[in-house]
Amino acid sequence: MIGVILAGGSGTRLSPITKIVNKHFLPVGKYPMIYWALLKLKEANVENVLLIINEDDQPLYDKLIGDGRELGLNVTYKIQDEPLGIAHGVSLAKSFVGDSKFIVLLGDNLFQDSLKKAVSDFEKDQKVAHVFLKKVTNPIAYGIAEIDLKTNKISAIEEKPVNPKSDLCVTGIYLYDASVFRYMKQLVPSQRGELEITDLNNLLIKEGQLGYQMLNGWWIDAGTHESLYYANQLINGDRKESNHE
Ligand code: TTP
Repeated sequence: MIGVILAGGSGTRLSPITKIVNKHFLPVGKYPMIYWALLKLKEANVENVLLIINEDDQPLYDKLIGDGRELGLNVTYKIQDEPLGIAHGVSLAKSFVGDSKFIVLLGDNLFQDSLKKAVSDFEKDQKVAHVFLKKVTNPIAYGIAEIDLKTNKISAIEEKPVNPKSDLCVTGIYLYDASVFRYMKQLVPSQRGELEITDLNNLLIKEGQLGYQMLNGWWIDAGTHESLYYANQLINGDRKESNHE
């Protein structure tokens, strides 16, 4: 299993600090944000990691993490020239991943659950993809999964729905096998000009290839000022629940 962490993007919602520093270097508890994703991969026994980063950040990563040895990981970097979307970032992992299965983490997502069992189960699974859902209190802000109550499968994912079909958010943790790179060729840029991971996952749903499970512990997307503050509290154990909205 290969690990892929997305740490590019523009971080506009955390402006103005993100004009001079990428959000993944901002402190959450005692570590820069990016450490938490790396430590989650280590906990799941995923040692070979590709970090997708912006070009300007390479010298900082060289100083902070280098080849990952100090963290017990083997870290390689790939530059994303422009923030063309999460699915675009994932597509950059193709040559590194080869024929392996891989886990993608969004670098600004922090969570409590261990991924160890899910990773080892997915190694044996025949499915192409698997996502992790979390109940949220403001579904209009997220990619929301609709569950077919007859089959208990995800029937669709809707990005920031006006009338949400559930309160189950698709978190930034994805398990894929290498065949997703073929599906990616069908993607076209969205209205905001990005290749959307939700479009990729909806394609996989149509093919009957997307499994899921719930996250039990807290989960947070630390991409806003408020949620970054809550992420610090969650990591420090000063807050138990991620549903702050
Ligand atoms: P987002 O929070 O959706 O985008 P962003 O980081 O650019 O922030 P903002 O919306 O405030 O401008 O990104 C989710 C994660 O995915 C985050 O960890 C950054 C990463 N990402 C990439 O690596 N490449 C990309 O092209 C995008 C859009 C995001």
